[in-house]
Amino acid sequence: MKLPVLEDLGDVAGKKILVRADLNVPLVGEDGERTVADEFRIEATMPTLQWLVDRGAHVTVCSHLGRPTIETQEEFSMAPIQRLLHQRLPEIEVLENLRFNPGEVANDHTFTEELARGFDAVVLDAFGASHRKHASIVTLPGLLPSVAGRNLELEVEALSRLLEDPVSPYVALIGGAKVSDKLALLRSLTTKVDTVLVGGAMAFTFLSAQGVEVGASLVEPELRDECERLLQSKKIVLPLDFLTLSSSASFGPGDHDGEVVLSEGSVREGYRGLDIGPRSVALFASYLLDAKTIFWNGPMGVYEDPRFAAGTLGVSRAVADSDAYSVVGGGDSAAALRQEGLEETVSHLSTGGGASLQFLEENGHLVGIDALLEGRRR
Ligand code: 3PG
Repeated sequence: MKLPVLEDLGDVAGKKILVRADLNVPLVGEDGERTVADEFRIEATMPTLQWLVDRGAHVTVCSHLGRPTIETQEEFSMAPIQRLLHQRLPEIEVLENLRFNPGEVANDHTFTEELARGFDAVVLDAFGASHRKHASIVTLPGLLPSVAGRNLELEVEALSRLLEDPVSPYVALIGGAKVSDKLALLRSLTTKVDTVLVGGAMAFTFLSAQGVEVGASLVEPELRDECERLLQSKKIVLPLDFLTLSSSASFGPGDHDGEVVLSEGSVREGYRGLDIGPRSVALFASYLLDAKTIFWNGPMGVYEDPRFAAGTLGVSRAVADSDAYSVVGGGDSAAALRQEGLEETVSHLSTGGGASLQFLEENGHLVGIDALLEGRRR
């Protein structure tokens, strides 16, 4: 896929450029004093902004932030992000949250025309939102000359390597709570990879489909048949042991109680599995260390509770130690790697959670990327 890129804009000196970035970042603090808690997505779009500013363009940045409603607009103001960006690049303008106008999510044409008014060109850098059929993603590129920013370019290059001739053994490490969230991904991966290591609560639906006792662990019974079909690919590897907790005990990032019990092979009645155990970490690590290509998305357990973080942190070390070409999807897996200070050890850490999964599910088709390619053909 040959995306139009920044160089295709030609001389940008004095031109008014609108950059659609994904500055949907976590914030901390009370109203009015909020600050950016994680600058990863801002850092990722800096090369694009810097490139344009260095060449004399007048740059305006726009993004969505969270999912605001009329009542919660103040909470989702871009002000903390504006402040941070102005410390780095005082000359750029940052627009208020695009989703404050219902026309953004509704992909309203009049709203998009108003957004585009006065600009000479658009740079789409919001990989993390490029699966959303929203005005600034799919309609804006049709209104003005439009190219991909550096972040979008890098993301497409890295994820395309997983689709086009990945070097074998190609191992996918997939976690998270629900099979239903990852079904399309699992279907697609089982046709492309050598091995899919499944952790997180989603493993219990697979185990239950095999008739294994999973106690009070999270199971999606309606997906057992689908799991059986996926298991027929003979590519899926499931955990061997689990860290469990009585279902009456509490868990999570705050207060918690109960005694953690290591269970081999199954989970006893009245208990729920909340992390993979040490034998599973060793098994998964053995595949990851032999791999030549790795894709990782999703935690192995409830890692925000320190008692159930070892599985996710253990596999993150194995991904880091592997010599494979490794791509880590955004969200929790990226956060776990960064918590361990291992972000530099992987080949590519994606800024998109949902977008990177959809890119792999849909063979590189995302509505935002398709809109850019369409614009190039016009
Ligand atoms: C993300 O955080 O995954 C992107 O910014 C997209 O946000 P959304 O899921 O609210 O559309």
